[in-house]
Amino acid sequence: MAARNILIGGGTGFIGKNLGELLMSNGYNVMNVARMPGTSNISWSTLEHSGLPNRTCAVVNCAGQQFMDFTKSWTPGFKQNVQNSRVYTTKALAKAINESKDKPKVFIVVTGVGAYEPSDSNKYDESSPTTGIDFFSRLVVEWEKAANVEPPVRLVIIRSGAVLGRWGGMIKNMFLPFYFGVGGRIGSGKQYLPWIHIDDLTRLIHFAIENESVQGILNGVAPQVITNEEFTKSFAKALGRPAFFPVPETILDFLLNPERAMIMTKGQHVIPKRVLDYGFKYRYGDIDEACREFAHLCPKQHPLK
Ligand SMILES: NC(=O)c1ccc[n+]([C@@H]2O[C@H](COP(=O)([O-])OP(=O)(O)OC[C@H]3O[C@@H](n4cnc5c(N)ncnc54)[C@H](OP(=O)(O)O)[C@@H]3O)[C@@H](O)[C@H]2O)c1
Repeated sequence: MAARNILIGGGTGFIGKNLGELLMSNGYNVMNVARMPGTSNISWSTLEHSGLPNRTCAVVNCAGQQFMDFTKSWTPGFKQNVQNSRVYTTKALAKAINESKDKPKVFIVVTGVGAYEPSDSNKYDESSPTTGIDFFSRLVVEWEKAANVEPPVRLVIIRSGAVLGRWGGMIKNMFLPFYFGVGGRIGSGKQYLPWIHIDDLTRLIHFAIENESVQGILNGVAPQVITNEEFTKSFAKALGRPAFFPVPETILDFLLNPERAMIMTKGQHVIPKRVLDYGFKYRYGDIDEACREFAHLCPKQHPLK
């Protein structure tokens, strides 16, 4: 019988957990690589010493220290942690794959659209160059370089936009202010906001696991290009709340450091050209529909349970 085991680095996080649930509901056995023990977890040092679990058919890396952790100052040490938690985990998984006798078919790494220089005028598809001029684009360049697996293992790199879902990422951080009617656009609101609904990102990863023709870079974003202001209106409408309180860019620069704040104050026009060429069908291609899905304080079904 074909191997149905999948290993997820950072499988305990927002993306990893949702992905694990989708894969299990499709008949896969899922193991995580995590820093804490758990029934379905192996540690990074076990991975280093014992290699991949037997009969692993796919490996996905969703590990990375959250850089929008507002309790952490943007110090050189924290930046190093943000970098190492992505580059070293990707290197560790690539090494385990290269050294395994019974190789998985595919290695998928979730990186970010931060690969592309923020701009109000450029349009980026997967063939666009990554310039590496700011912290995040340099990070993505290093991160993707670390995913160095040898053929015949297929390498798929998904440059994800902001992942939208009730229980993680950007929405988790901004849910309560918007719910209490004190949300608003960020800065001018004119900056692009590349986005993808969590269900579509996990479905895209599943699609890439099962379709042997899929390889290389994929922009993990919805085809609908929106600005921060358009998102703000849509989210507020779905919640039935006003959103009259813009957050000035200077305040974010002061609180977060301009280098980190640029994730929110600047954006990129990103097109998922190769994803569409492969024939992937989005469930949430429209921001209003996506917002209606997660604009609930307590959804009936907690997706992470
Ligand atoms: N969420 C988004 O909007 C978004 C957008 C684009 C790209 N991404 C990328 O996708 C990945 C996952 O994002 P997420 O939203 O799922 O984040 P998350 O909920 O914070 O989960 C991150 C995972 O990474 C692991 N991790 C954290 N710090 C680590 C460290 N120092 N060393 C090793 N592992 C560490 C954690 O696992 P343990 O604590 O169990 O070890 C956790 O499961 C990240 O690399 C992120 O940059 C996310």
